[in-house]
Amino acid sequence: MEKKLSTPQYEDSVIRGFALMTVVWGIVGMLVGVFIAAELLWPELNFDIPWITYSRLRPLHTNAVIFAFGGSALFATSYWCVQRTCRAGLFLPWLAKFTFWGWQAVIVSAAITLPLGITQGKEYAELEWPIDVLIAIVWVSYAIVFFGTIAKRTVSHIYVANWFFGAYILAVALLHIVNSAAIPINLFHSYSAYAGATDAMVQWWYGHNAVGFFLTAGFLGMMYYFVPKQAGRPIYSYRLSIVHFWALIAVYMWAGPHHLHYTSLPDWVQSLGMVFSLILLAPSWGGMINGVMTLSGAWHKLREDPILKFLIVSLSFYGMSTFEGPMMSIRTVNALSHYTDWTIGHVHSGALGWVAMISIGSIYALIPKLWGRKEMHSIPAINLHFWLSTIGTVLYIVAMWSAGVMQGLMWRATEADGTLTYSFVESLKATYPFYAVRLAGGLVFFSGMLVMAWNVWRTIAPPQAQAVRITGAEARA
Ligand code: HEM
Ligand code: HEM
Repeated sequence: MEKKLSTPQYEDSVIRGFALMTVVWGIVGMLVGVFIAAELLWPELNFDIPWITYSRLRPLHTNAVIFAFGGSALFATSYWCVQRTCRAGLFLPWLAKFTFWGWQAVIVSAAITLPLGITQGKEYAELEWPIDVLIAIVWVSYAIVFFGTIAKRTVSHIYVANWFFGAYILAVALLHIVNSAAIPINLFHSYSAYAGATDAMVQWWYGHNAVGFFLTAGFLGMMYYFVPKQAGRPIYSYRLSIVHFWALIAVYMWAGPHHLHYTSLPDWVQSLGMVFSLILLAPSWGGMINGVMTLSGAWHKLREDPILKFLIVSLSFYGMSTFEGPMMSIRTVNALSHYTDWTIGHVHSGALGWVAMISIGSIYALIPKLWGRKEMHSIPAINLHFWLSTIGTVLYIVAMWSAGVMQGLMWRATEADGTLTYSFVESLKATYPFYAVRLAGGLVFFSGMLVMAWNVWRTIAPPQAQAVRITGAEARA
């Protein structure tokens, strides 16, 4: 009885929902990714059906992988982490349940409207205004649940992972609400509240910080909780984590203009974006080093624990993409990389290598705990998944880097008389082999997700448990 009073009542049903949906949406989003990768190789695959053309499925892919897959992983891990580190149950559990159903409603609405061609045309902010309103409501509810739980914590300290989760929640609310300001003309169409270059600047302030706060700060929260937990060691440097936090938060907000080099944006704004992007290398690597060094003295665990492999390799990809990003933000480098598949390579070294792999590792760590199992059903299957993810990512990004640099060089090659050496179609033809390798990489990565689905299923519903449940039901009868 006494024990009951001192142990906080954790609210895990909503986390179970988000954890499962991470796997489901991961499969859906990546399947669409594989399909659009195939469409780039064989455009006939759209069968002249408007709903499955590349242009409509591409935003479906980005929304599904970022917001449905990544978002579900973030909800699950932040709700888990905030309860355990604050030693308090979730604030307003019914509101937490609403965030689950509300978020699923957003995703389903996206999956219906995007193939129908209903879009605001702003990258990563395509959804029309009624869905934007629902996103804002769900997100504010999320903030209430998260910060409410922090407020009712029974320990005085606020663990650093919660700082990152908190910053991601606040920043995404701000970005979404400001960038989505629009004037509706009917239920399915609206016009942005901003015009011209201002609209572009607001959009890329949003776009870049969606990367910085949704795809980075939130996942760093995951890293700060799950890496020390899985390694069974404290974080390498608590001091560094605080410096990392403030430096990252302060710098990210200013780097957006690197998406608008050589445009009508004033030159000084472009230079400002470039300088802040270069500075961003330091806090990014500080965070990566802090995560990786947590393993110092326990490197052998990397050999034995495939979950740790996911977490640590994801940090290496994080380091790679946050080195590459600042380089690409240098204007002269961007003159070569922009519009090419180099950008797509950069995106997926972050998206597959960092975001997907850290999510997969964290969900593997969570699933057995959520269902009261000792461990995942099959550890060799996690190992297999790890290799499929790593090989898939490497195939994808190496193909896209090579294609990108080739395209950039072909487009700028000129003859002595100043005419272009290659036509655009020639560069496209030269890209096909790389598209084939990317498709292969995508398929390999995707097949790993299927292995994960099987393993999760076997973990949460093993035959013995079903037998126990049946026996229990019989006993009650
Ligand atoms: C220090 C950190 C980073 C910097 C300075 C940076 C910089 C850049 C630059 C210069 C571009 C190309 C812009 C263009 O030519 O259009 C870019 C694109 C992009 N980056 Fe990064 N990057 C960083 C980290 C990351 C990470 C970790 C991820 C993913 C998790 C990521 C996701 C993206 C995405 C999605 C785009 C494409 C945006 C678009 O045009 O749709 N970046 N980044
Ligand atoms: C099986 C795995 C995946 C495959 C095959 C795949 C494939 C693709 C393809 C073909 C594109 C369009 C590229 C182009 O326009 O030339 C794309 C874009 C994109 N994907 Fe993926 N993808 C996968 C996983 C992911 C994941 C897990 C994420 C995020 C967590 C992600 C985020 C993105 C983003 C942000 C873009 C837009 C990039 C830009 O505009 O610069 N992808 N993907």
